[in-house]
Amino acid sequence: MKVLVIGTGYVGLNTGVALAYLGHKVTCLDVDERKIKMLQDCKAPIYEPHLDTMLELACPNIQYTTNYDEADIAITDVVFISVGTPSLMDGSANLEYVRQAAHSVGSRLNDHFTVVVNKSTVPIGSGHWVSAIVRDAYIESHGHKPDGNYAIASNPEFLRQGSALADTFYPDRIVVGASDARAIDVLTNLYRPLLNQDFAAPDCLPRPEGMGAVPVVTCDLASAELIKYAANSFLALKISYINEIAALSDKVGADINQVARGIGLDSRIGPRFLNPGIGWGGSCFGKDTAALVATAKEYNLEMPIVAAARDVNYRLRDTVVENLQAELKILKGRTVTLLGLAFKPNTDDLRDAPSIDIAKKLIQRGAKVRAHDPVAIENMKRQYPELEIEYFQDANEAVSDCDAVVLVTEWPEYRKLDWKALKSRIAVLDGRYFLNLG
Ligand code: UDX
Ligand code: UDX
Repeated sequence: MKVLVIGTGYVGLNTGVALAYLGHKVTCLDVDERKIKMLQDCKAPIYEPHLDTMLELACPNIQYTTNYDEADIAITDVVFISVGTPSLMDGSANLEYVRQAAHSVGSRLNDHFTVVVNKSTVPIGSGHWVSAIVRDAYIESHGHKPDGNYAIASNPEFLRQGSALADTFYPDRIVVGASDARAIDVLTNLYRPLLNQDFAAPDCLPRPEGMGAVPVVTCDLASAELIKYAANSFLALKISYINEIAALSDKVGADINQVARGIGLDSRIGPRFLNPGIGWGGSCFGKDTAALVATAKEYNLEMPIVAAARDVNYRLRDTVVENLQAELKILKGRTVTLLGLAFKPNTDDLRDAPSIDIAKKLIQRGAKVRAHDPVAIENMKRQYPELEIEYFQDANEAVSDCDAVVLVTEWPEYRKLDWKALKSRIAVLDGRYFLNLG
């Protein structure tokens, strides 16, 4: 099939590359010329495990452009809108980029049947809104109403950064929401190799043992849109729940990792997303929980559970600094090393990363901040030039000659540091219950 992916962020690029690998003809479009230039040179503009290899493998079936007129929309079967949807001040999502993309697509559609898919996480009801924009743009450019030549679908993604390609190839489920049965058919056919799991797995991403056919959930637009928010919010509150238990566990002298294991082995609960620590960050959990609360408000509904999960999460960032202060007594003039900047390991993404808030709070209180991260330092320098942080390429150097170390992101390589020696000299705060310090 012929596919256009608009927005080559974490979601769009991984989706485009995976579909090209599966044999579809894919065009990836982005307004960011730097990204497109890199992609045309077969270089990954983001850090994501195996993306370099997959870009090479996808190469025969994929092209990149910044220009809608080069995207052949009039003969495209599926258009994915996967541009960013950042939060506005009130927690609702900024849909301006989605609007621009929908308008650009609508004005270029023709007689060929095209499914326009909301892949970005958009508020409930956006499917109808996008449909109206596509329709208006079509009328504006063609001078007459469209005649059943397009349908809107919602096809939320559940990929995690750091394992985005594996999650795309081996998903737990695929959700397709649409009111037009043709759209469901087209997308089911597009995803057939993933649903049947009968494609040849790339060497770098072998099929997990026991992986069978993937269930598909077909539903209406609003249900698909809500599934995404409800799933992310549930995962977020699972993490906040274990963090609330961790606080009590610390007080009563229990071992939270054993507690989490003991809880997670109950198959009704499950072991995943029970890792305690300084809480979630990233592009989705904060944004989606805020958007869910904001949407509910529009219907005069409160979401106290989701709101509490947010409070618990963001308070943890203060708690780290307060615990450090309790340990060091005085923060002013102290040198504190943050190990890990990215919001989770295996990514260079800093969106809503706890490291940023923690660094700001420490600097505000007069501490000198040092930091190490295996891949996110350049992003941090570029995105937060105002933060006075001394960066280190070597974790050992970063922790030598400082007053305290906070493990912020659980990169596996941090386990190799000599924690016993460090702990005997300076304050060590394991923000992810990762080090087994005893
Ligand atoms: C995605 C989803 O879009 C978001 O809704 C979800 O909640 C998180 O994941 P992501 O792919 O991570 O976002 O975003 P980002 O890495 O910011 O990528 C968005 C891309 O869209 C960028 O490359 C940006 O240049 C591009 N873009 C943005 C366009 O091509 N056109 C625009 O008008 C705006
Ligand atoms: C999340 C969802 O998992 C994914 O389905 C959705 O498509 C996008 O949002 P992502 O944000 O990339 O994915 O990573 P994820 O692995 O979910 O981690 C999110 C945050 O939660 C990270 O900051 C991570 O450190 C934290 N986390 C995760 C915990 O604190 N404890 C856990 O047990 C799991």
